[in-house]
Amino acid sequence: MKFFIDTANLDQIKEAQEFGILDGVTTNPSLMAKEGITGAENIINHYKTICDIVDGDVSAEVIATDFDGMVREGESLAALNPQIVVKLPMIADGVKACKYFSDKGIKTNMTLVFSAGQALLAAKAGATYMSPFIGRLDDISTDGLGLISEIRLIYDNYGYETQILAASVRHTMHIMDCAKIGADVMTGPLSAIKGLLKHPLTDIGLAQFLADYKKGN
Ligand code: E4P
Repeated sequence: MKFFIDTANLDQIKEAQEFGILDGVTTNPSLMAKEGITGAENIINHYKTICDIVDGDVSAEVIATDFDGMVREGESLAALNPQIVVKLPMIADGVKACKYFSDKGIKTNMTLVFSAGQALLAAKAGATYMSPFIGRLDDISTDGLGLISEIRLIYDNYGYETQILAASVRHTMHIMDCAKIGADVMTGPLSAIKGLLKHPLTDIGLAQFLADYKKGN
C-alpha cells in the first residue's frame, strides 16, 4: 500500500519523507491556500519545492474546468518535473482530459470521486490514480469505506490498472480499513499516519527493556 501525505505544508512533508515511509504527496487548491500559497507563480514554485523534497508522485491540481484549459494547464504542470501527476476534476471535460493525458503517457489523478460509476469512468479514461473522498462521504452519513470496497470489486472484475487512491482520509482507522479492503494508495494527514505507530504495550515494553538493561550495567 502506498502512503501519500495530503498537505502543502513543507515541514510535514519533510517529516514524512524523513520518516522513510512516504510514497508521494497530494495537494489541492484548498491545501495550498491553507499554507498561504496563492498566485500561479507561487503555486508552481511550491510544487517544484515539494518535488525536491520527496521521491514519489506529487499531484498538482488544474484550476481550469474546460478541456482546452485543462490540457494547457496540465501540460505545463507535467513539464515541471516527471514526479508531477496532473490532478483533474471528475467532470466530463476532466474525463476527456484524462484520456488525452493517459494517451500521451502523462500521469493523472481523477479527483472528487464520490461514486463507483465515476470510478469506472476514470478507469476507462486510463487514469493513473482515482481518488474517492471517503471522509467527505462519512461526513454526510454515507459509507466512504463501502465505496472503496465497491470500486475494488469492479476494478478487479476487469483488471483495470487505475490505482484506487483513498482520499479524504481523516484518521488512523481509515488507513487500516483501506488497507484491509485493498486500496492501492491512501492519502491523509501526518497525524493519521503517525497514529499507526502508537501502542501502549510498545512503550511499556521498551521502558522495561531499558530499565532491565540499566540494572545489569
Ligand atoms: C485528495 O487528493 C484531497 O486533497 C483530500 O484528500 C481532500 O480531503 P478533505 O476532505 O480532508 O479536504
